[in-house]
Amino acid sequence: MRKISSPKVFQAEMRKLRERAKTIGFVPTMGALHDGHLALVRRARRENDIVAVSIFVNPAQFGPKEDFKRYPRTIGRDEKLLKNLKVDYLFHPTPKAMYPDSYALKISMGSPWVKDRLRKKFFPLLENLCGKYRPGHFEGVMAIVAKLLVLAQCHRTYFGQKDYQQAILIRRMIEDLHFDVIMKVLPTVRESDGLAMSSRNRYLSGDERRRAVALSRTLFWLRGQVRSGTRNILWLKREAARRLKPAVDKIQYFDIVDPQSLASLRRWQTEMVVLTACFVGKTRLIDNVTIKVKNQKS
Ligand code: PAF
Repeated sequence: MRKISSPKVFQAEMRKLRERAKTIGFVPTMGALHDGHLALVRRARRENDIVAVSIFVNPAQFGPKEDFKRYPRTIGRDEKLLKNLKVDYLFHPTPKAMYPDSYALKISMGSPWVKDRLRKKFFPLLENLCGKYRPGHFEGVMAIVAKLLVLAQCHRTYFGQKDYQQAILIRRMIEDLHFDVIMKVLPTVRESDGLAMSSRNRYLSGDERRRAVALSRTLFWLRGQVRSGTRNILWLKREAARRLKPAVDKIQYFDIVDPQSLASLRRWQTEMVVLTACFVGKTRLIDNVTIKVKNQKS
């Protein structure tokens, strides 16, 4: 595995591979790798000649009171894991290299046809859910992913469904900016008790870890209810929150939304996503499940 820290060198290397007609699979990460990341890497390994992974804790996607400084950095361990999976390139740039003092670009959501004050109504995918509680977060994500894709020049790029809103926004950006890349979103990888794998799980104490399982349990409970015929969305939301509340320290949001627009639903539809963000202790955890049912019972 070749480790590269210079954006220019990484870009030149990827260009050479493309000129030699190699297919490139690229997995962007912030490191502190877990089985969720490794599933993306394995898939990239199966589908491409060359696999490149980036590890970059992106300062632009953390709010001033968030955990940028504390975010786990485990580069030595990560390198070993990636070597074991036969990754060809690890791109590990410094913040200065990605954001030199001259850096000025911001990628956001909007449209020439919609006034900024109506953004909330027309762009729930940026403004709802995590977008509401982490202002600027997704702009930071989109900027770094755009930059990484320009450098990696990959044929396929891989993301996890745990970050559902992120995946939808990145897909939108890829389409809007005409990136010539196939984006693959793979299912959330879970611990044996259902907790979604996340680099932030390592912040949890023993007691918090036990309580954290309530997120996935509640989501699965709700999906079970829908599958067995419950159609009252407002009741489902209320009842799920009632179940979640005793286990977590704060529910930031718990919502049932349209899978594409992420607009909050008041009425039942055949495809929905249920998403939640909760604090367990000081740790903010997110999780989601998608729901697809065939018949619309009234
Ligand atoms: O999902 C993540 O780990 C990050 O948001 C990403 C996509 C690597 C961008 O920094």
